[in-house]
Amino acid sequence: MKIIGLLILAYLLGAIPNGVWVGKLFFQTDIRQAGSGNIGTTNTYRVLGPYAGSAVMVLDIAKGTVATLLPTWGHVTTVLGSATPLLFGLFAILGHTVSVFDHFKGGKAVATSAGMLLAYNPIMFVIAASLWVGLIYWTSMVSLASMIAFTLITIISLFFQDPYLTGIALVLTVFVFYRHRTNIQRIRQGTESMVPFGRGYRR
Ligand code: G3P
Repeated sequence: MKIIGLLILAYLLGAIPNGVWVGKLFFQTDIRQAGSGNIGTTNTYRVLGPYAGSAVMVLDIAKGTVATLLPTWGHVTTVLGSATPLLFGLFAILGHTVSVFDHFKGGKAVATSAGMLLAYNPIMFVIAASLWVGLIYWTSMVSLASMIAFTLITIISLFFQDPYLTGIALVLTVFVFYRHRTNIQRIRQGTESMVPFGRGYRR
């Protein structure tokens, strides 16, 4: 029973729509009605500025991390053994993308997945974050940087010889591409919005 309660808690943590709540609480703005309409870091940055964007990034990463640590803190395990935390991380990602607090809609799973990685394999998190920042500088498009970063993480995960890590990275890569399908369309049409820095930025 304890495990079910903790899984529900992981889902509820992931379901907290930080972007929506930060926007409404501090800026009287619904970010779902502005910019790309997404509730994540990028759109919060785009619509509400760098402080709000950074706050949402930290909060979205944190909810993935806390959810992934729940089984360790609660001393529960499953048949997955050492990979049990990933199951809880997945529940947080499910909450983030199908949120009970956001009419069962949600974000694109980038920051919450990163939070799961931080709890499960901090070295991989540092590699992923560095790649992501470098790719944003290179492309000036967070969406493209996110998709390429997830793909590279899947490949790099092979060096850790942890089939659960590679499996989850692969599943999340496919999922992140799926969640970014409108971005992919805009990238193909040359209309994807850019962050105002990096070598790819066009004024
Ligand atoms: O984290 C989501 C990001 O990759 C794209 O966000 O608002 O440009 O669709 P957005």
